[in-house]
Amino acid sequence: MKLQSILALAVIIPLLSVLHAEDSPLEKQMQILAKGTKQLSMQVNDPSRQQSTVTLIESLRKAALDSQNLQPRKTATVPQADQAPFLAAYKAQIQKLSDTYGQIEEAVKAGQYDNAKSLLGKLGQLKKEGHGKFKQD
Ligand code: HEM
Repeated sequence: MKLQSILALAVIIPLLSVLHAEDSPLEKQMQILAKGTKQLSMQVNDPSRQQSTVTLIESLRKAALDSQNLQPRKTATVPQADQAPFLAAYKAQIQKLSDTYGQIEEAVKAGQYDNAKSLLGKLGQLKKEGHGKFKQD
């Protein structure tokens, strides 16, 4: 490899990692949701982890609440007049997500583990719809 190419890479690689480091505040909350929901799916129907599951769900509801107070990047691409309804719809979708975590929590507390497990599908559906409408391509 030529010296010039090596020098170019030496500049570009750190630059790329700086750009990547700039996750939006909402992306950070989404990463918490992604990691925690994966963990939830692994333990939701394990009675021996009931208390830890409840604590995990509480942290997921907090991440959902924090997400509700943030704005998707896509908001900036929506015409000014449409931004308020766009954000209202976004918040309503996050609210449904939080409510579903609440239903899972109630099911786990009541020892209804099969019910809790089946509610995970609803989370996936809400995520799919939410990303379709509010996530920038
Ligand atoms: C369990 C449900 C969900 C999971 C696991 C999840 C996961 C994720 C992940 C992994 C990302 C990418 C983060 C990154 O780039 O580092 C993301 C981005 C995003 N998600 Fe979700 N998500 C969920 C539900 C939702 C819902 C319900 C909505 C909308 C109401 C939503 C709106 C968004 C938006 C707008 C972004 C882009 C972030 C931005 O614009 O700054 N997500 N999500």
